Amino acid sequence: MEKTFLMVKPDGVQRQLIGEIVARFESKGFHLAGAKLMSISKELAEKHYGEHDGKPFFKDLVDFITSGPVFAMVWEGENVIEISRQLMGKTNPKDALPGTIRGDYGMFVGKNIIHGSDSPESAEREISLFFKEEELLEYTSSIKEWIY
Ligand code: PPS
Repeated sequence: MEKTFLMVKPDGVQRQLIGEIVARFESKGFHLAGAKLMSISKELAEKHYGEHDGKPFFKDLVDFITSGPVFAMVWEGENVIEISRQLMGKTNPKDALPGTIRGDYGMFVGKNIIHGSDSPESAEREISLFFKEEELLEYTSSIKEWIY
């Protein structure tokens, strides 16, 4: 089953949106494989967002993502990478449709609530940056039985 890395950013944690965001992925039919509240070091932030190094917003992005705790998650399911991006909405909340997470809760691109991997390659890379193998659990759930 496909896996993706999702992260409630510091603004989402501070605004007490973790529960709301988790509920959306659970309700859709995805299976939670791992989750943790954590602080991101500057080093991890620079690795995670390495492809954006040199862009004008890179420093702001690293400062923001290290400014407070994040809620890191791994979710599983058919097409979970693509569908998660749809549930999140467009990167800039001003363009995100109502009904999406950023469309409902975001205001500015610099504080857009949630991060999600954008391809199978980035999902694999990001999962291994944030989680040890033993932190990802394999277990059966009613979701697996009833949806898959
Ligand atoms: S790009 O240049 O099109 O590849 O960039 P994009 O995919 O739009 O964004 C890459 C990540 O940078 C965040 N971002 C910003 N953060 C702070 N300030 C500004 N101006 C800004 N613009 C983009 C954006 O949210 C992406 O982070 P993630 O965590 O993937 O959402």
